[in-house]
Amino acid sequence: MITANPFKQRKYPFVFALSVLLLTVAVFFLTKNAAVSRLDVVGDGTSFSDDDDLDAAMMKWEIWYDNVPHPKLVEVKKVQNWVRKSGDYFVFPVGGTQFKEGVDHYIEFIEKFKLQTLPTIKWGKHVRVVLDVGCGVASFGGYLLDKNVITMSFAPRDVHEAQIQFALERGIPATLSVIGTRKLTFPDDAYDLIHCARCKVQWDKEGVLKNARGKPLLELNRILRPGGFFIWSATPVYLKDEAHRKIWNAMVALTESMCWKIVAKTFDASGIGLVIYQKHVSYTCYEQRKDNRPPLCYHKQSLNRSWYVLLTNCISRLLVDSNRNWPKRWPQRLSSKPLSPSTNPDAEEAFNNDTKHWLALVSDVYREGLGINWPGIRNVMDMNAGYGG
Ligand SMILES: C[S@@+](CC[C@H](N)C(=O)[O-])C[C@H]1O[C@@H](n2cnc3c(N)ncnc32)[C@H](O)[C@@H]1O
Repeated sequence: MITANPFKQRKYPFVFALSVLLLTVAVFFLTKNAAVSRLDVVGDGTSFSDDDDLDAAMMKWEIWYDNVPHPKLVEVKKVQNWVRKSGDYFVFPVGGTQFKEGVDHYIEFIEKFKLQTLPTIKWGKHVRVVLDVGCGVASFGGYLLDKNVITMSFAPRDVHEAQIQFALERGIPATLSVIGTRKLTFPDDAYDLIHCARCKVQWDKEGVLKNARGKPLLELNRILRPGGFFIWSATPVYLKDEAHRKIWNAMVALTESMCWKIVAKTFDASGIGLVIYQKHVSYTCYEQRKDNRPPLCYHKQSLNRSWYVLLTNCISRLLVDSNRNWPKRWPQRLSSKPLSPSTNPDAEEAFNNDTKHWLALVSDVYREGLGINWPGIRNVMDMNAGYGG
């Protein structure tokens, strides 16, 4: 039986009035707290708006206060605009210690700057995998996501309370770590570019043992791929007092001894300066040094051993086949075999099979068949990841 519309029936005027009232209240709250509803929808994982891209963008710049209830940075970093509290939310106005004019401006500045001897850095093409040392709330990595760059951001839990929690809540890849006495838990040659913006690491110091200088920088050298870049955006690059000059001179001596080349040194409009180094791609420079310091690592010291290993004072060995054409540009790189040395003669075939296997499995099963609403999933940990397929 088809029933008549209750709103048109005289005996139900209160239903009509109540519905209008509820609708008005709902519209009021939906428009007033548009961001709330977007986050709610994503947060409970049951339903999703059509505008998922917008949701993702919002997540990056605002999070629930109650999920990371640490207000200290709001006060401490007020001038640098890292994070602010806005009602029930923290918002991230893309500021930072070195990003006074906004991290977007800073990143464009790096890209547009003409390198003296190389093409410009093309985010998301040959610079695809980046490490941000001492990341703060990871706005640098967060903004680079829009440029098709995957940045691993890290910092310790120090006075900059809960930085990594903020980053993960924003949906930005991040991990708790520190440049201290041990190696970082990343394999050799992993990163296309490493970034340190006032990250407080004394690169020219010895690390743990007193007889060898520069261990922290030698560790970066290990995880930076041949031809990769290191961007150091820090006061010794642009302040000229004696203390800063001393650090700058020590960095010059150290980087030269490691065969790193300065490809750019510049200042942006706000006076902040940065230097871009490039790692060497062959053994020629190491062999031509006047003395063998720092020495090349013995093979056994440098074969991807990084768990619970102290920093070393040697230069890690280059990949045998390394050359300027490696790695391939993104996205071809995804399906081309990495150069990491393998003694297995079937390595290439194994890699190709693994790639095909995961391509099919992800598109047929994970994306379509598991009933997971992927737009509501942001931070994923792949355990026992193999080739990362
Ligand atoms: C002044 S903040 C700069 C944050 C961010 N890079 C920016 O420019 O906005 C210094 C950062 O370096 C981190 N840091 C300090 N010592 C560190 C160490 N030994 N290893 C890694 N990060 C460190 C701090 O936790 C903090 O995130």
